Amino acid sequence: MTQNILIGISGGIAAYKIPHLVRLLKKQGDNVRIVHTAHAAHFISPTTLQAVSGEAVRHDLFDPAAEQGMGHIELARWADAYLIAPATANILGKLAHGIADDLLTTLYLATNAHIYLAPTMNCHMLAHPAVQANLATLAAREKHTVIPSDSGAQACGDIGAGRLPEPETLRDWLTPKRDWQDIHLTVTAGPTREAIDPVRYLSNHSSGKMGYALAAAAARRGAIVTLISGPTALPTPPGVTRINIESAEDLLAAALAHPGDIYLSAAAVADYRVAHPAAQKQKKQGDAPLTLALVQNPDVIATIAALPPETRPYTVGFAAETENLLVYARAKRARKNLDLIIANDVSGDVFGADDNSATLISAEREIPLPRQSKSALAESLLDHIRAAYSQTSKKS
Ligand code: CTP
Repeated sequence: MTQNILIGISGGIAAYKIPHLVRLLKKQGDNVRIVHTAHAAHFISPTTLQAVSGEAVRHDLFDPAAEQGMGHIELARWADAYLIAPATANILGKLAHGIADDLLTTLYLATNAHIYLAPTMNCHMLAHPAVQANLATLAAREKHTVIPSDSGAQACGDIGAGRLPEPETLRDWLTPKRDWQDIHLTVTAGPTREAIDPVRYLSNHSSGKMGYALAAAAARRGAIVTLISGPTALPTPPGVTRINIESAEDLLAAALAHPGDIYLSAAAVADYRVAHPAAQKQKKQGDAPLTLALVQNPDVIATIAALPPETRPYTVGFAAETENLLVYARAKRARKNLDLIIANDVSGDVFGADDNSATLISAEREIPLPRQSKSALAESLLDHIRAAYSQTSKKS
């Protein structure tokens, strides 16, 4: 469905991503018009924007020539969607409080379009209670979608949330595919914690980002998503039902209760647990070394994959390896009886990172997916998983 998409650019370095977004939207047949704040012109040239959009680009509310063409009220009426990206702290403050002192903010008040806001700023600014309060106000309004920012290295050198998502992700927010409609997807994510005593545990470095990105993208694409999550610092994605677990045994119970139509296991499950966790906090015993007896945890995904055909979901695992990636991944897929396995190399600094590459392995095929942001990789994995699932007898 062709949409009229108005893009409002405010003054942030991430404005450089907008020309690519415009090209993606135009490629899929959308009509795009652009307005910007005065500050945005410091970061992106209006000439570039005009060239990619093929339309006059406006920033001045009082430009008589522009008003003679499509006046600002007509422009507000024209738009089906109004994306403000990057949306700075300043712009969010104005929008939250109804201040309209330039074209971009005036259009916000004048339009009946669905509003998409992409907050983009330094991580400390984003975390400020004033900005968070403005975002909460805006998110609560009808027909408003706040697009979660990506986290990672920022232009200012800080590391944290506040990056503008990649153009492909922004496009998908504006025009979500609905190809996962009504499919029950269970995603597991994050680490497990295996208790040593009431205050200590064994765990791993999983951040949960890949699983959360998959859950968020599938929900946007229409799936009914259950996210079984170990402890992470991540917010529950919109439209996702989250079940919190701690240990591998908790995970097994939750997975058996909610296997879904498709079971996608991104959790980094501890292979072992402490045989006899202590009931009380353990004390040091002089200088003696500590020996912990460990027993193997249940292999959750292998248990799910071994369910009888009536309840067995289409089962997709991850193989995180530091060496012999494809050899180990192929063997793991076969051993656990998985339909697909996603091989990913964790020899670098993938844990907690914002980008990743992968190879999708089935019995018949191997598809390499290049290094990209975890959210872009999630979209691509969902494309391939959906296609492979539709080949099975369970669903069309
Ligand atoms: N997995 C699981 N339950 C476990 C261990 C792993 O469900 N007890 C799942 C993971 O979520 C992942 C896949 O199995 O989807 C492979 O996990 P990985 O840790 O790579 O494999 P292991 O079976 O632990 O093999 P190994 O540690 O020997 O490499």
